[in-house]
Amino acid sequence: LLQSDFVLLFCFSNADIFLSLSPLHLQVYMLPQIEKSGVAAEIDAAVQLLLKLKVDYKQMTGQDYKAGCPPSENLIVSNNGPAADDCDGEDLVDPWNVSASSTKGVDYDKLIVRFGSSKIDKELLERIEKVSGQRAHHFLRRGIFFSHRDMHQILDAYEKHKSFYLYTGRGPSSEAMHVGHLIPFIFTKWLQDVFDIPLVVQMTDDEKYLWKDLTLEECHRFTVENAKDIIACGFDVNKTFIFSDLDYMGASPQFYRNVVKVQKHVTFNQVKGIFGFTDSDCIGKISFPAIQAAPSFSSSFPQIFGGKKDVPCLIPCAIDQDPYFRMTRDVAPRIGLLKPALLHSTFFPALQGAQTKMSASDPNSSIFLTDTPKQIKNKINKHAFSGGKDTVEEHRKYGGNTEVDVSFLYLTFFLEDDEKLEKIKEDYTSGALLTGELKKILIETLQPMIAQHQERRKQVTDEMVQQFMTPRPLNYKF
Ligand code: TYM
Repeated sequence: LLQSDFVLLFCFSNADIFLSLSPLHLQVYMLPQIEKSGVAAEIDAAVQLLLKLKVDYKQMTGQDYKAGCPPSENLIVSNNGPAADDCDGEDLVDPWNVSASSTKGVDYDKLIVRFGSSKIDKELLERIEKVSGQRAHHFLRRGIFFSHRDMHQILDAYEKHKSFYLYTGRGPSSEAMHVGHLIPFIFTKWLQDVFDIPLVVQMTDDEKYLWKDLTLEECHRFTVENAKDIIACGFDVNKTFIFSDLDYMGASPQFYRNVVKVQKHVTFNQVKGIFGFTDSDCIGKISFPAIQAAPSFSSSFPQIFGGKKDVPCLIPCAIDQDPYFRMTRDVAPRIGLLKPALLHSTFFPALQGAQTKMSASDPNSSIFLTDTPKQIKNKINKHAFSGGKDTVEEHRKYGGNTEVDVSFLYLTFFLEDDEKLEKIKEDYTSGALLTGELKKILIETLQPMIAQHQERRKQVTDEMVQQFMTPRPLNYKF
């Protein structure tokens, strides 16, 4: 309690408890413990702020504030405590942490309600197929991309022959990316192909420098290494611009102008609420969200859009990045720019189970794009959480649970053949297929997939990286 960070965090995450006490009561209650540390005034100010926010909320909505259950995305940004926090003490989803209370993983339906996004329903799927003239990607058909913001508007514009562009990104925290990182890039490549549109890829080497114990040189080197993996996904060099923040921020006056506009229109209090920043976070972190927001605006790329401000942007990403774009969408109309649309994916689970996402910061949870066939086999056999029963006899009798079985979940991402996947599900559920056999199918799916990726990556030369990363005009349809 003597640490100001801890006290403030506690204040925010338990807003209801504190708000139901008067500030005076809170002071009397806490002062004896904290007076010496000199943070009493800080806590008092935080309590006053929370009370004021509660009053503002009531004025704006006509309703009493209910902790953590926001009615709309704008209010999430303006008024609430950490948007990433959960309302019922279960799942935690933010750009740095994912943890679910159920072994089945994050409850994505609840997340849609909490984040105020929309489900990708049958109607939207059919529209995407109609407008693109292609069968929906299996990530869409299987609900891996499950949520969106304003996708109908993107399709409306496209039907009227108005182009849009794609924006996605990567925080280059290490040399090797993991299989989970491929998900947004594989899907973005499909979108680029079917809609024939430009793509910008932001490499947030500045973000990783601010958050991790890495030097600027290391972060920039990881940008180049990771860009090779992204290029190996097959993007068209004539339609794709990959940029390092460390390089492009200084080279593009228009980009920096948009960053500054966003910075002027978001308060410290708002980013604290959205991202959970505290007073002891460095100022680089506090202003970083404006840098991730800027590529959502076409005027940040005059070499591609000729200074046009009104080319709509579509962002494919996993839902952990949504807090950045809730903030962006809140700011956009206030700076006279378009709100970006989004397509959100679920998380590719950690080897240990769907309660958390595959994450580079936990090497045991991940299969890396640099892993050898032997490493892939060993990791899956040793670590992949099984939904099977303890003994062969029990498994044959009761069958396995595909909802929690990591090998099966991985196959839903990478086994494209719907019929084969359905048959595996039936056989595993009935007990006809054993865990070892299921793991073997996964190993035989991932080994060639990763080997082919490595082969394509080997073909990516430094000159090619240079080409993708040079600011230049791109070719696109409209
Ligand atoms: P980063 O490097 O953490 O992740 C890159 C992309 O991969 C997604 N992702 C996952 N998707 C499925 N399953 C997983 N286990 C998994 N882990 C990560 C992320 O959602 C992301 O789409 N700050 C960002 C970089 C960034 C960005 C963007 C991302 C800048 N601008 C625009 C998306 C869109 C980051 O550190 O991503």
